[in-house]
Amino acid sequence: MFDRFFKDRKKDKGKKYDNLPLHIAVIPDGNGRWAKKRKLPRTAGHRAGSNTLKTVVKYLSGIGVRFFTIYAFSTENWTRPKEEVASLMNLLLEYLRNAERELEGSNIRIRVIGNRERLSTELQNEILRVEKMTFANTGLNLVFAINYGGRDEIAEAAAKMARDVKRGKLRLNDIDEKVFESYLYTNDIPDPDLVIRTSGEIRSSNFLLWQTAYSEFAFPEVLWPDFTVKYMEQALEEYKSRVRRFGGI
Ligand code: FPP
Repeated sequence: MFDRFFKDRKKDKGKKYDNLPLHIAVIPDGNGRWAKKRKLPRTAGHRAGSNTLKTVVKYLSGIGVRFFTIYAFSTENWTRPKEEVASLMNLLLEYLRNAERELEGSNIRIRVIGNRERLSTELQNEILRVEKMTFANTGLNLVFAINYGGRDEIAEAAAKMARDVKRGKLRLNDIDEKVFESYLYTNDIPDPDLVIRTSGEIRSSNFLLWQTAYSEFAFPEVLWPDFTVKYMEQALEEYKSRVRRFGGI
C-alpha cells in the first residue's frame, strides 16, 4: 500500500538525506517546564511549542519526509486546568486558521486523528475545512493527534468491528491484523519509523500504541520549545545508524 512512497526514495540514495524515515511522530514534551524556567505561564510554553512546530514542519517538508504526526492533545489532557485546555484548543484553532498562509506553496496535507466528538464545533469545522482544502496536496502529511489516545483508538476499532460483524458486513473469521488496522484512525498512514519524545521523559503515554510496535525511539534531552532543527538532524543521524530487524535476525 505504501510502496509508492518508497519508490520515490530510491532517488535519494547517497544524498545527505538518504534513509530518511517515511514517518516521524513526535511527543512534544516540556512546554510547561520551559515556561516555568522563565517564570512565564504554562500557556506561554505552549505558544513557544507551537512556534517550534512551525519550524520543524518547514524543515521536514523541505527535506522530503512524507508523514509527520504531532501529539497535540491526548485523551488524558482534559484533566489539566480549564484555562490550559482552552489555551491549547485556541492554539490549535489558530494554527489551522493560519495554515494556508503559513504553509503556502509547501504542498502540505493536514489531517487529524483522534476522537473529534468532544472538540468544539468551531474546531471540528475548522479541521474539516483544512483537511478538505489540503486534501489534494502531495507533499508532507502533517497529522495532528487531537483528543487522541492509543487505547481509546483500539477500543473504538474493536467496537466498530463488532458492529460490522453484527450487521453482517464483516466475518469473524476474516479478522486479522490487516483488517484491524483498517479500523484505526491511521488506516491510510504508514506506521511511524521514528518516534521522538523531547524533555528527557522516557515513556510513550498512550501514543500510537498499535502503530509503534516496531518504531525506533529517540529521547533527546531538550524541552520542546528549544527543539531546533539541529536536534532533528541529530535524531535523523541516530535513526540512520539503527539496524531495524522487525523481529527477524
Ligand atoms: C506537553 O508539554 C505538551 C502538550 C500537552 C501540548 C502539546 C502542544 C504543543 C507542542 C503545541 C502544539 C501546537 C499547537 C498548534 C497546539 P507539557 O505541558 O506536558 O510540559 P511539562 O511536562 O513541562 O509540563
